[in-house]
Amino acid sequence: MSDLLTQYQIIPDRVPQHVAIIMDGNGRWAKQKGHLRIFGHRQGVKAVRAAIESAAEIGVKYLTLYAFSTENWTRPEQEVNALMELLVDTIESELPTLMKNKIKLATIGDLTKLPKKCQTQLDKTKAKTAENDGLTLVLALSYSGRWDIIEAVKRIGIEVKEGKLAPEDINDGILDKALNTSCFPNPDLLVRTSGEQRISNFLLWEIAYSELYFTPVLWPDFAKDDFYKAIVDYQGRERRFGKTSEQIA
Ligand code: IPE
Ligand code: IPE
Ligand code: MG
Repeated sequence: MSDLLTQYQIIPDRVPQHVAIIMDGNGRWAKQKGHLRIFGHRQGVKAVRAAIESAAEIGVKYLTLYAFSTENWTRPEQEVNALMELLVDTIESELPTLMKNKIKLATIGDLTKLPKKCQTQLDKTKAKTAENDGLTLVLALSYSGRWDIIEAVKRIGIEVKEGKLAPEDINDGILDKALNTSCFPNPDLLVRTSGEQRISNFLLWEIAYSELYFTPVLWPDFAKDDFYKAIVDYQGRERRFGKTSEQIA
């Protein structure tokens, strides 16, 4: 019932086109319950499902989920392996749901760092969902904002070296196109769960004008209603992009 109440408050023609989420708090959620961290990650998959469903239901076009950062490789090997296993299993088991709901899978990040099994599963699922025209689900895997910017700068550097691009012609658009995120609009709304108020090397370039929303809810507890609450909060904001309030009106 409360789900419906919050969903009812959403203004349909002001739904953010792109929502990005830093899914944080799995470990603390498990610890609070006296379980191992991986139990929290498993529970987190349910919250992923709920977020995808909520986004699709209200007409969000792009949902980017921070699933594994460049820095997360420094976690204990056992946790990293368990996360990779969970990733393969989840993508495999969710394929029918993706197809049924016309969801297209995309990724950002250095996939070459992932175990072969993960890469194969991701490639297969991306190919199978390529023609789906509903929500685009972007998984950030072995991703960090700085990594992407550095890689983009290297690509631009090669263009310059080969004489295909003049340094003075480098602008926002050129960098946009060289990033992993080139196919997606910038996020309108960035959500982080677990109470931490930091970006942790997520979409550094792309969030220049995103609205930020922090909630203390730990990721495994993040339900549809919490997603809708974030949307309602977003809709109450005035995005000025440097202009004055009067110009916006
Ligand atoms: C987020 O939860 C999941 C990943 C980073 C893979 P955490 O594992 O960071 O959980 P906390 O922050 O330790 O509670
Ligand atoms: C950010 O969470 C990365 C993901 C959610 C995948 P972390 O838990 O790794 O972030 P920090 O280290 O606390 O900033
Ligand atoms: Mg964390």
